[in-house]
Amino acid sequence: MNPPVISPSNPLVESERFRLLVQSVNDYAIYMLSPEGIVSSWNSGAQRFKGYTADEIIGQHFSKFYRDEDRARGLPSNALNTARTSGKFEDEGWRVRKDGSFFWASVIIDPIQDDDGNLIGFAKITRDITERKQAAESLHASEERFRLLVQGVTDYAIYMLSPAGIITNWNAGAKRIKGYEESEVIGTHFSRFYTEDDQQTGLPAKALATATALGVFENEGWRVRKDGSKFWAHVVIDSIKNANGELIGFAKVTRDVTERRKTAEELKKAQAALFQAQKMESIGLLTGGIAHDFNNLLNIVSNSVALLRPSLDGAKEIRLLEGIEKATSRGSLLIQQLLAFAKQQTFTLERRNVNRIVESFESVLRRANNSLIQFNIKLADHLPPVEIDVAQLESAMLNLVINACDATPSGGKILLTTEAIQLSEHEIEKLPAGNYVKISVLDTGHGIPPEIISRIVEPFFTTKPIGKGTGLGLSQVYGFAQQANGTLQIISSNGQTTISIILPSLSEDVMDLHQEPASEIALIVDDQPDVLEIAAEVFKTLGYDVICANSAREALEIIERSKGIDVLFSDVMMPGMNGIELGHKAKTIMPNIKVLLASGFTTPVLKERYSGLESFDLVTKPYKVSEIAKKLRSV
Ligand SMILES: Nc1ncnc2c1ncn2[C@@H]1O[C@H](COP(=O)(O)OP(=O)(O)OP(=O)(O)O)[C@@H](O)[C@H]1O
Ligand SMILES: [Mg+2]
Repeated sequence: MNPPVISPSNPLVESERFRLLVQSVNDYAIYMLSPEGIVSSWNSGAQRFKGYTADEIIGQHFSKFYRDEDRARGLPSNALNTARTSGKFEDEGWRVRKDGSFFWASVIIDPIQDDDGNLIGFAKITRDITERKQAAESLHASEERFRLLVQGVTDYAIYMLSPAGIITNWNAGAKRIKGYEESEVIGTHFSRFYTEDDQQTGLPAKALATATALGVFENEGWRVRKDGSKFWAHVVIDSIKNANGELIGFAKVTRDVTERRKTAEELKKAQAALFQAQKMESIGLLTGGIAHDFNNLLNIVSNSVALLRPSLDGAKEIRLLEGIEKATSRGSLLIQQLLAFAKQQTFTLERRNVNRIVESFESVLRRANNSLIQFNIKLADHLPPVEIDVAQLESAMLNLVINACDATPSGGKILLTTEAIQLSEHEIEKLPAGNYVKISVLDTGHGIPPEIISRIVEPFFTTKPIGKGTGLGLSQVYGFAQQANGTLQIISSNGQTTISIILPSLSEDVMDLHQEPASEIALIVDDQPDVLEIAAEVFKTLGYDVICANSAREALEIIERSKGIDVLFSDVMMPGMNGIELGHKAKTIMPNIKVLLASGFTTPVLKERYSGLESFDLVTKPYKVSEIAKKLRSV
């Protein structure tokens, strides 16, 4: 069977010219097959690609050009069948040259029919596109490598956005950092990673607008993970443009820098804390030095006054001396506060339950409040003991409550609470991990402005008018807390100020040794009404029923009348009968009566003037509740 273009029945010059044309085409293999697939014509392109001359190949089956495995899979006959049934076969695939080497061919097979529609053969056009394929393949391979690289990065979220901000791909880092699977985010808008506030202010759109205008957008901010938690993100958005400069999308790289930010913040905090600690330390040193010197001076004054007193007769002189005495004791109170701040005060440490101390001090605390204030105390059900100086804790609590009152001039609430807390290492300042007792005074007053909060514990820092505050209150509280290995915590926000003393608690296997005073009767004797009143308060605080007397004589009458008095608490120096005499007389009437004497003078001074003092215990004015309680226990 002859191929139609060179059929002798077609004598046209036209067809001869066409044959020559096809024959000489060099870039395409153009040849014909019989309906069975036998090669029936061959051009120079075919010879060039496949290496066969026309003589060598015409008459052979075209499956010779296929690889063995393709032949085994029936590719050649499939190709002809497809061409026959669909009118065309088009494919790319490996073909074999005469020398056995392969080339990548683009193949088109067209069926050829005669006028009656009978298949008379196939026209086959083949091109060697090995080079093009190789180029495409290496491009694809490099794209694939790049894709795998980006996909595999876990430290950075790297993904692309459409020009409208829709997520178009997702890498392992994005999954790790944001917590979403690829299927959950692709096709959604990237603004979902922003906080609600940022969404509201339109930050996502602004970021894209900036990236579009400037080529890149870079910032840091909070972003939201799938589980709702936040992380501090460093974000870079690059705009991607095609060769014509049209925006085709954005590349977004996000890094989780929460840790870095946290470290930086902690460093800043630590530096501030260090600065504050150093400042307090040096103020403490200075204060301690001054207080000591001043205390020595004051000692000379008070001792001299004490020595002078017996030799004075005139009422005027005695009044003046009393004025000096009062000023000296006020001065020594200030010194005590300064020494407390400087952590140089001598403490009498006792293992105590703070709840009990608050209870017995409650009446004093209540009196510090006024009628506009709703004062409440809320004690923890159970508190472990602490080791403290009771008098120090009392004056610390009193100062906190007075401060709270001063801050609440037009009325409000003050709440004193005790609480057992557990702290982890450095949760509050430098406190080691462990159990603590927290004593807080909360008020709803005017609050502490942030700019002065770090200064209010400094000695002499006060915002109160002259005469109203010395600025030593919190200094004492601070020093006390520090010396007790605890700390002072000051929080003022949202209309509430809470100042807390945090003290390390002791294990509870040692019992609270403190015995509550029973409801006994105390007889208080003093010729000065205001001193008498305070002493009466102190004994009430300690749980006594109190009877007062203005002189020793009056006291004796009472003792004789009512025989049930447990304690006699008397001033030593009184007109008429002095306290020592009174004590002795009381003892003869009631041998079991406990006698405790009080004086502004020290024992040596009194001994010089009076006899019989050694039989009794003495407290020196100004005395403290705890001191009296302790003396009463030992009497
Ligand atoms: N609860 C509080 N609310 C608002 N400000 C307070 C509070 N507690 C203390 N302050 C501020 O701290 C300052 C210092 O207090 P601190 O107790 O040391 O001294 P003071 O009360 O001014 O004087 P002092 O206690 O010696 O009489 C106060 O003047 C006040 O400005
Ligand atoms: Mg104060």
